[in-house]
Amino acid sequence: MIGKITRARISFLLLAAALALAIAGTRGHAASPQANPAAQTSKTAEQAFKNIQVLKDVPADQILPAMQFIATSLGVECEYCHVKNAFEKDDKDAKVTARKMMLMMFAANTQTFDGKREVTCYTCHRGSTDPVGTPVIPETEPKPITEVPETSAENLPKANQIIDKYVEALGGKNAIESVSSRVEKGTLVAGEAKLPVEVLDKAPDKRITIVHMPNGDNSTAFDGHVGWLGAPGHPAHQMTAAEADNVRLDADLHFAADLTQLFHNFRVHGEEKIDGNDVYALYALNEGKPPVHLYFDAKSGLLVRMVRYIDTPLGRNPAQIDYADYRDAGGVKVPYRWTIARPSGRFTIQVDELKQNVPVDDAKFVMPPPPPAPPEGQKNP
Ligand code: HEC
Ligand code: HEC
Repeated sequence: MIGKITRARISFLLLAAALALAIAGTRGHAASPQANPAAQTSKTAEQAFKNIQVLKDVPADQILPAMQFIATSLGVECEYCHVKNAFEKDDKDAKVTARKMMLMMFAANTQTFDGKREVTCYTCHRGSTDPVGTPVIPETEPKPITEVPETSAENLPKANQIIDKYVEALGGKNAIESVSSRVEKGTLVAGEAKLPVEVLDKAPDKRITIVHMPNGDNSTAFDGHVGWLGAPGHPAHQMTAAEADNVRLDADLHFAADLTQLFHNFRVHGEEKIDGNDVYALYALNEGKPPVHLYFDAKSGLLVRMVRYIDTPLGRNPAQIDYADYRDAGGVKVPYRWTIARPSGRFTIQVDELKQNVPVDDAKFVMPPPPPAPPEGQKNP
């Protein structure tokens, strides 16, 4: 048995855009008759919400990712600044202060950093409401840094060598591309809770992850064009374009073989350690988009970690996926376990059963239609 709170917590962890659900309660009172103002990507925040004074001109669908960024930067929940179910109210001092902080941050970046977003809420707050301005006295004798550490790119492999080794480690390009579908069944583990999960993939880029919750299914999907999220008791909703960009990477069934086409540019960042093992960090870059950081085991060549980001007007929201338990499946190595971690928490999916090249109906990936519009929603936008 899992309690109500755990269940809510899991929904929160599962849905990158859980925030849209968090404000579901405000919909009835929203000035706009639209079921979900944030889904109106063409609207500015000022048009879609009731009381925006600083982030007026940002696209409406960036407000919730920005709020998520603030919350994790300060280590607080939404209620620290907001009155429940009345997000537009300015009753809490912290919300009023947060507006001043935004203006201070924008001014610092404009005046000191040539308009680059170098300073964010996290730069000072580091997960606390009370930034520390005085150096801390350490428990043990400090070792001050006297030299700039050397970073030598000499002994590092080139980007194409890292990628080629990855493709070979998985079984080679032909083996990877011979997989046209994959159906996985397993268990999602989040803290104490364990839930059955199914993952369906169909080449080239359709994917759905369905978590069977006690009160219904929780879905994260990419249908080949758009990404969408579904949770029990809420209408399914489309992801923002930035979220969909990331989910599209998971949906590419031939990801390793397609890597050089998915990104325009790669940069070998260096050698690091993950769980005590040497890894090569490769930054995959596309112009105008946040980077994707890929970490490959130096020995096996396999991808062990991917870190990706959602840009918001205030900073980037990170998500990290760790891949493990690679096993052979018909000549291709597949990770049977992966852990998705965000500042808000983490969960792991362990695959117990895997089938490949079985028929999968395209309809599985399609977003369920929205429920009938309420009567007062008949007005045109
Ligand atoms: C540190 C304070 C702070 C936290 C924490 C915070 N917000 Fe906000 N929020 C603000 C401020 C300030 C604004 C107004 C921004 C402006 O005026 O440009 C705002 C505006 C909003 C709005 C628009 C309301 C309207 O109709 O005008 C929504 C919705 C919202 N926040 C949701 C959230 C959610 C969901 C969370 C939790 C993930 C959250 N906020 C966390 C400070 C905060
Ligand atoms: C340059 C450093 C810096 C940056 C950047 C910064 N803050 Fe702050 N913030 C502070 C300091 C210092 C305080 C504490 C002031 C005090 O103690 O009176 C503070 C206090 C706050 C408080 C009041 C906390 C409380 O006591 O309830 C809020 C809310 C807040 N900041 C939100 C933000 C948000 C949101 C951002 C990003 C838009 C941000 N801050 C960016 C330094 C910063």
